[in-house]
Amino acid sequence: MSVSVRWLGHACWEVRHGEQSILIDPFLNESPTAPCKAEDLSPDLILITHGHFDHIADAASIAIRTGSPVLACYEIATWLAQQHQVPNTIGMNLGGGIDLKWVRVKFVQAWHSSQLPDGSYGGNPGGFIIELADKRIYLAGDTALFSDMRLFAEPKLDLAILPIGDLFTMGPEDSLQAIQWLTPALVAPSHYGTWPPIEQDTDAWEKKVRAVTDAKPIVVAPGDSFEL
Ligand code: NI
Ligand code: MN
Repeated sequence: MSVSVRWLGHACWEVRHGEQSILIDPFLNESPTAPCKAEDLSPDLILITHGHFDHIADAASIAIRTGSPVLACYEIATWLAQQHQVPNTIGMNLGGGIDLKWVRVKFVQAWHSSQLPDGSYGGNPGGFIIELADKRIYLAGDTALFSDMRLFAEPKLDLAILPIGDLFTMGPEDSLQAIQWLTPALVAPSHYGTWPPIEQDTDAWEKKVRAVTDAKPIVVAPGDSFEL
C-alpha cells in the first residue's frame, strides 16, 4: 500500500498510509490557504517542528480531541502538556528518533528560531525524517540552507519537503542546493504562498529543479495530494 502526502497549506502536511495518518505543523483555522479546519482532521500522530504560531496553532486542540501523541522538541512537548493540558506528548531532542509500531520518526536539526506563541522558550527548532511503509521522507521544517543536509541523503530519500518562501526560511535558490545535496526522488515545496512576503513563482522553481537536479518536483495546491 502506498503512502499518500497531502499539502494543507503553508507548512502543514498530512502523511497517510492505509488507515493511519501523521499531521505535521497544524496551522489551519487561521491560515489563509488551509483547505480544511482543525476539526476536520483526526490524525494518529502529530509532529511539531518548532514553536512558531504558524506551525503549532492548532496542535493542542487536535491533540486533546483525538488523544493522539504529539512528538516535538522536549521544551515544546512540556509546554503543550503543562500550558495546554495535552494528554499525550513525547519530548525529543536533536538527533533522537523513536520507533512507533508503524513509523519511525527522527528529529533533526534546522537553522531557525523557536519561541512559543506566549513567549516561552521552545528549545531547538528541527525537521523530521519519517520512515514508514518502506518510504523515507525528510521534512525540513523552517530552516536556512546547511551543508549537513547531505548527511540525510542516505538511505535514499523518496521525498524531501523543503521551504522555498524566502524571508523566514531558505528561498528558491538555496533550495536548489539543498536538493542537490539531498538527492531525493521527489521534492515538494513548502512555506510559501500563504502571505504576500512569501509568494513564490513555483513554475520557475519547477523548471530550475528539473534543470539542475535529478529530483522530480511536485507542486500541489492546498488540499491536493500525491502518492509515493
Ligand atoms: Ni518559524
Ligand atoms: Mn514558519
